Amino acid sequence: MRLKHCHNYQDFRTLARKRLPGPIFNYIDGAADDEVTYVRNTACFDDCDLVPNVLSGVEDIDMSVTVMGQKLDMPLYCSPTALQRLFHHRGERAVAAAAEKYGTMFGVSSLGTVSLKDIRKEFSNPQVYQFYFHKDRGLNRAMMDSAKEAGVEVMMLTVDSITGGNRERDLRTGFSIPFRLTLAGMIQFAIKPMWGINYVTHEKFRLPQLDDFVDMSDGALSIGRYFTEMLDPSMDWGDVAEMVKLWDGEFCLKGIMSVEDAKKAVDIGCTGIILSNHGGRQLDGSRAPFDQLSEIVDAVGDQIDVIMDSGIQRGTHVLKALSLGAKAVSGGRFYLYPLAAAGQDGVERALGLMHAEIERGMRLMGCKSVGDLTSKNLRFR
Ligand code: LAC
Repeated sequence: MRLKHCHNYQDFRTLARKRLPGPIFNYIDGAADDEVTYVRNTACFDDCDLVPNVLSGVEDIDMSVTVMGQKLDMPLYCSPTALQRLFHHRGERAVAAAAEKYGTMFGVSSLGTVSLKDIRKEFSNPQVYQFYFHKDRGLNRAMMDSAKEAGVEVMMLTVDSITGGNRERDLRTGFSIPFRLTLAGMIQFAIKPMWGINYVTHEKFRLPQLDDFVDMSDGALSIGRYFTEMLDPSMDWGDVAEMVKLWDGEFCLKGIMSVEDAKKAVDIGCTGIILSNHGGRQLDGSRAPFDQLSEIVDAVGDQIDVIMDSGIQRGTHVLKALSLGAKAVSGGRFYLYPLAAAGQDGVERALGLMHAEIERGMRLMGCKSVGDLTSKNLRFR
């Protein structure tokens, strides 16, 4: 299969699986425990149907949205994700460039493989910083300062990863940084030599946000260990309220799922919340964000930007979330498989296909702008 034969999420996934060594593919593709939540995140979109209004004069479609102060040309953006340099040698740069082309937002993670500052200089589209709250308060302060200095538009604190999810696929392969693989994991690398050649002939793998603070020389850093050993499980609403004040700008919480927490986010001055279960990678058995969306929008939708993340594979999934009142939608795997499959070209193709699906869907729904989509356009079975 080649890039030009990729027409949807599953096609990109198939191509990524061909290109990546098994342990890396499974790191992206896997989730926690029995992966029940992971499956539900997408299956939930089939519990309801779109109800179009026809003859609405839909020649011109405007799918732009403004979210957390950022104007996006399309209502879907690339959620920040970790370790992108492992998936393609241009990592975050490839994603940022593709997102810039479609006028949408991208993100860099605390576990990102490019520095916030370098990438901010190269691209003009809005950038969010996925922040993890570490035990080392000095590290937190330094990371916030450098994000401010870099000119990052939106601070996004991840609140669903206070400890590592039980990702059994990673346990089986031994996935960690640097690689500390099981025998089965090593064999998987050996049968994908092109990935290895590409990996060693390009820019060295780094975690610039953490370089000065994490010593990876004498032991591999697994994602589970990073979460469990470095992040601060004592983090509470008081800590976050302090961060919001300190940041003094657009600040959102990623991983909010309950109405109570959504209200607290409003109270401490957040400007956005992202309903997310981390793509099913943390708490298996937790509810899908789409299932939780309308009650949260009802409770706080007029006070804070509600964004929905997790499970998006189709333009119509985006339309369903927008109909229930999400201001925008984000996702990780929908652009990570394309990144692994073909770098910037892959992500551009994925965003282009989603753009076309959203535009076509809006036209068929009789909606000229995102604001035209309301809960009247959706019926649960
Ligand atoms: C993950 C983190 C690092 O899901 O976002 O692997």
